Amino acid sequence: MRCPHCQHDNRPGSRFCEECATALQRACAACGAPLSATAKFCPECAHPAAAPPARQFVSPEIYTPKHLAERILTSKAAIEGERKHVTILFADLKGSMELLADRDPEEARKLLDPVLERMIHAVHRYEGTVNQVMGDGIMALFGAPIAQEDHAARACYAALRMQDAVSRYAEELRRTHGVDVQIRVGVNSGDVVVRSIGSDLHMDYTAVGQTTHLAGRMEQLARPGSTLLTQATLREVEGYVEVKPLGAMPIRGLPEPVPVFELTGAGTVRTRLQASVARGLTWFVGRDAEMEQLRHALEQASRGRGEVVAVVGEPGVGKSRLFYEFIHSHRTHGWLVLESSSVSYGKAAPWLPLVDLLKTYFKIGDRDDTRAIRAKVTGTLLTLDEVLKDGIAPLLWLLDVLPDDHEFGQLDARSRRIAAIQAVRRVLLRESASQPLLLVFEDLHWIDTETQAFLDAFVESLPSLHVLLAVNYRPEYQHAWGGKTYYRQLRIDALPPANAEALLKPLLGEHASLAPLRRLLVERTEGNPLFLEECVRTLVETQVLVGQRGAYQVAKEPGAIQVPATVQAILATRIDRLAPEDKRLLLTASVIGKDLPWTLLLAISELGEDELRRGLARLQSAEFVYEAKLFPDVEYTFKHALTHEVAYGSLLQDRRRAVHGRVLAAIERLYADRRAEHAERLAHHAFRAELWAKALHYLDQTGTAETQPSIDAVLGGPESPASLWWRGMHERAVTIASRDRTVGIDFGNFPLFVTANFRLGQIHHSLGEYDKATGVLNENIAALAGDLRRETFGLAGLPSVFSRAWLALCLAEQGAFEEARRAADEAVALAMQQDHAFSIVVARVGSGVLDARRGRVGAALAELEQALVVERVADIAMLFPVVAAPLGWTYALDGRHDEGLALLQEAIARADAMQLAANHAQRLVWYGDAQRLAGREHAARRTAAQALEAARRTGERGHEAYARQLLGTLASERDEAVEHYRAALALAERLGMQPLATAVASCLP
Ligand SMILES: Nc1ncnc2c1ncn2[C@@H]1O[C@H](COP(=O)(O)OP(=O)(O)O)[C@@H](O)[C@H]1O
Ligand SMILES: [Mg+2]
Repeated sequence: MRCPHCQHDNRPGSRFCEECATALQRACAACGAPLSATAKFCPECAHPAAAPPARQFVSPEIYTPKHLAERILTSKAAIEGERKHVTILFADLKGSMELLADRDPEEARKLLDPVLERMIHAVHRYEGTVNQVMGDGIMALFGAPIAQEDHAARACYAALRMQDAVSRYAEELRRTHGVDVQIRVGVNSGDVVVRSIGSDLHMDYTAVGQTTHLAGRMEQLARPGSTLLTQATLREVEGYVEVKPLGAMPIRGLPEPVPVFELTGAGTVRTRLQASVARGLTWFVGRDAEMEQLRHALEQASRGRGEVVAVVGEPGVGKSRLFYEFIHSHRTHGWLVLESSSVSYGKAAPWLPLVDLLKTYFKIGDRDDTRAIRAKVTGTLLTLDEVLKDGIAPLLWLLDVLPDDHEFGQLDARSRRIAAIQAVRRVLLRESASQPLLLVFEDLHWIDTETQAFLDAFVESLPSLHVLLAVNYRPEYQHAWGGKTYYRQLRIDALPPANAEALLKPLLGEHASLAPLRRLLVERTEGNPLFLEECVRTLVETQVLVGQRGAYQVAKEPGAIQVPATVQAILATRIDRLAPEDKRLLLTASVIGKDLPWTLLLAISELGEDELRRGLARLQSAEFVYEAKLFPDVEYTFKHALTHEVAYGSLLQDRRRAVHGRVLAAIERLYADRRAEHAERLAHHAFRAELWAKALHYLDQTGTAETQPSIDAVLGGPESPASLWWRGMHERAVTIASRDRTVGIDFGNFPLFVTANFRLGQIHHSLGEYDKATGVLNENIAALAGDLRRETFGLAGLPSVFSRAWLALCLAEQGAFEEARRAADEAVALAMQQDHAFSIVVARVGSGVLDARRGRVGAALAELEQALVVERVADIAMLFPVVAAPLGWTYALDGRHDEGLALLQEAIARADAMQLAANHAQRLVWYGDAQRLAGREHAARRTAAQALEAARRTGERGHEAYARQLLGTLASERDEAVEHYRAALALAERLGMQPLATAVASCLP
């Protein structure tokens, strides 16, 4: 058959020209006579012709989505006449004609068109273009006219997606029409010369060698329902997809059989590389010394002398890029590289980086279900080494796929944690015996305590292993490995001027007008690479620079060039310059996080699919975001953590909260059956959406670990007033705090005075000496005026806040509720202004307990739930009992007995574990009261007795009064009740506890 377009002589029955892919003429299936494009019957023998495709498939102009069409037309001029490396995909419906022979052609089309639609949609999904639609098949191109470096991977993903979509549709057809449809797909990569792109978007090209022919042959060889690749394609997609080799097959027109591969699935390798390739990295410059250090460490590790290398530097300076270049250099050949990074809300997301790393290691993909994950973990471990089988349960637990009834899940949090750390450690140790291991942890400044604990443990075993642990972080982060002989720290600073110029040259070009500009940029940015890149973007956007990347010219006076002072400022102005709808999209997206899955974007952006894609394409070309992942769904990512931070920071508070709410709802809906796995993210969004109860719900699933040393550190040594108070040694604490106070006054040591005063207030409060307490606390509040209110003076929070919170607690006992309210409100406002987590928790507890004492349950719940959320998010384990106990009691007052009791039990257990004795009597009274409210009088009585005992032990007389009141309420005999009430009343009166005295008095005869 002769091609009407290029006159190439194709073999009979061809549907496309194998030279230029033009659709060839239709012919009658019965007599072979040529058919017109629209004929329904053969003009020669009246045999019914298969109906032509519906109008929507006639021309690329009609079926190509707008966002792709725009890109094709803008790149048209640049690619006409060029030779391009591309991947070609053919797909068709095998035997459709036979299948539908008995049907009316119109009706047959109704069944077939949806198949075509699904094929085309899959191609567009991965930004390929459909050049031709023929009856029951399509031919698509990846890599031209839209340039893509990873065209082969995209073609494979499109093939997987269309097989998937069509098989789901086939299921439906089988049910409704009793017919079975399956498609065959063939893929090949090679060169084409692009001749022209018509205004209808059709691309004319000439294939070089066998490019199209082989793709077509792959399709024809494919078993229905399968996809075949050639070696040429496989070479480019290794790691991205999984294949089954089918051996060499003879191909008509070729002298030798060619190897053929069946595409079986997507690879599970995390494809950071793709993101980097997609973004067109700037030429890597400098960093020779750092590369050398890394190389040296690698060499040590390869000889079984493991090392830690820490790269430290400001954001944008090139930490990640250094790792990227190192990992992708020839040096790491033969190494198993496992990468992971912390995210900015990571502190509240225990284990996240480690889980990430494990997922890569076990090749767990996004679509794997629980069973698949279990199978992969178990299989890998047992193959690696039988002795690792004890590690299976802890690892499954880490990955959130442990069966519900497994005994490991019943262990306490601490034991689980130790076992998990141990299990990961052992797998890595064992693995490193087979091949050297390069572990990369990025952005440790956001690390959570659990992953930190793992790293600390792992570092200890390094010296004897074939492992290099490479980490990076911003300067504010600290760790305890500094003293190790096998630790080295690389501080990376901005690039020296010569390197910075070298970075700019390939980016800007060599035009003479650029020299002064280069110097100006290097000087202003001081050589921070991210800053440099963003400056160039700005200059292009404001048309100071005109031309193409790598060949710019200066179009305006350099004098007119303004460079903002910081990279954050430049990002902010660039964001402001975006068109309103693009800016809105960018800011909205920033709420999701640094990584942006397509489905979430679609769910929260309030845009249609096409609109969203176009918006993202514009943000991508402006280099705010990149595509980070393609399969199973596209995922975008912000170019840099700072881009994300600045975008997020530009959102108004109200809108931010609202969008977080939308993200929360979307994740809940989209991952309905995998909520546990997403608990940390859900908690984060609920927190930011200020949905406290929800935040608590999700946070519940994440246990934190408190460790004694950190508590001691906060309290200031075992003999400090704070420690003594903590352990319930109130008398001694008063003595020392008073001494400190005097020293502070005598020697003009203001910080000592302030902290001692606060401690005194705190201790007197515990002792029930409310007058003394209010005295010193008021003194503190007066002393801490102006800016002093914003200083911590070495405490874990602001004394200005602490003093007010405790004042509120004391005043509440005395019945001075209005005054207490004022103090509590001020405490909350001050803490919020400073955005200081520890202070916020303390302030909200003060405020919440005050409300609870007044019986304002709703208000108390709001305050205390917020306090607990902040405690969890900021991971301030030492405050847990302080928050959870009153919240538990408030739940009980609200009738939510089970929740209340559970929280109180945990508060008490964790206070015991931390040896927190101060106010323990109070916690026990609340617990007893909650038991009473739940109808468990017997248990309540026991708890109340314990409370009394605890109060006596520590001398907390206010709490003793409450314990007596509770015992009175619970007493079974009248005389006994009266005795308790009398004791409570006497204490309450002596201590000035107005409200308690009144309450108790009303119970007495
Ligand atoms: N030595 C370098 N040569 C060229 N470009 C660099 C270099 N270092 C960093 N960059 C570029 O600067 C930007 C910020 O670097 P990145 O590694 O992400 O910074 P960090 O991880 O320190 O925050 C990236 O776009 C990166 O490609
Ligand atoms: Mg980085």
